[in-house]
Amino acid sequence: MAMASLTASSSSITLLNKLFLPNPSSSISHSRLLRFSVRSRFTSASIRAVALQSDVNESPSTVIEETQVFACPVCYEPLLRKGPSGINLQSIYRSGFKCGQCNKTYSSKDEYLDLTVTADLANFNEVKPITTELFRSPLVSFLYERGWRDNFKRSGFPGAEEEFKMAEEYFKEAEGGILVDVSCGSGIFSRKFAKSGKYSGVIALDYSENMLRQCNDFIKNDNTFDSSTNIAVVRADVSRLPFPSGSVDAVHAGAALHCWPSPTNAIAEICRVLRSGGVFVGTTFLRYSPTTPWIIKPFQSRILQNYNYLMQDEIKDVCTACGLTDYADIVKDSFIMFTARKP
Ligand SMILES: C[S@@+](CC[C@H](N)C(=O)[O-])C[C@H]1O[C@@H](n2cnc3c(N)ncnc32)[C@H](O)[C@@H]1O
Repeated sequence: MAMASLTASSSSITLLNKLFLPNPSSSISHSRLLRFSVRSRFTSASIRAVALQSDVNESPSTVIEETQVFACPVCYEPLLRKGPSGINLQSIYRSGFKCGQCNKTYSSKDEYLDLTVTADLANFNEVKPITTELFRSPLVSFLYERGWRDNFKRSGFPGAEEEFKMAEEYFKEAEGGILVDVSCGSGIFSRKFAKSGKYSGVIALDYSENMLRQCNDFIKNDNTFDSSTNIAVVRADVSRLPFPSGSVDAVHAGAALHCWPSPTNAIAEICRVLRSGGVFVGTTFLRYSPTTPWIIKPFQSRILQNYNYLMQDEIKDVCTACGLTDYADIVKDSFIMFTARKP
């Protein structure tokens, strides 16, 4: 296993030489690689090749590495990172990311790292379905944690604190690993997961620029966070997650499935990024609660037709169709928390 990874590292070195060295004749050789670090996390062991900055004439704190966390949203190759290492706001914002295959570069815009396919396009703004666009609005993003989400309790949602505790129970086996909070909104759960200190990294991920700005503001105004808190704020589409296949230990998606343009594509993508044994926990609104009168159902379906409200069996079927196993759920009125695992 270790030998195979070392062989893979040789191609990483060639890539590092090609991508970042200002003078192609001064290559990073094996002997000049100052550090190989072997990370062992649960069932996965990975080797990182890190070239210290003395090789590229910049400040000693800067390193170039093949990230184990982020991948190109176009080709899913691990991104090369130039800058300080670590999964925390400061180091990520000071880093540049580049795909060795596509030659695309990615960097932090305002308060989040933009890893959408369109990140480097200045004049193109892809308009998504209403369920995605609604949350891109500055007003909805501002109101979200200031009352909007509390309304979910009327449909059976237990409330953020209780939902967090329930999710943590399912994530026990993923502790110590990377947790991605997909469609995190303003980061109501990402911040709780990061503060728990139970994960090596928490990625707060959403498509909405304004939700991510709110998330960043909440983190900055909370003095229980410091520069070493393992949290990153990332913009990405759930159907194009910027992580290598089989690299993520846990995926959380609170109150999100009904907002996704394609729940099937999203869950297939979540299954792709989870490692074997990795855990997915989601919550959403069911199309009907167990007590919805039959006469109301057709009207409710029409009113809600822009959203992907599924039923309990449909969620289970989609998870199974996407290759997840060990499905379980908890239902209260229209609220469902479900979990499944990558085999
Ligand atoms: C109702 S909010 C849920 C926020 C938070 N997870 C919670 O539990 O309160 C739904 C979120 O889904 C996000 N979303 C919608 N479409 C998305 C997409 N295609 N990719 C990623 N996130 C998306 C929205 O931006 C929004 O922040």
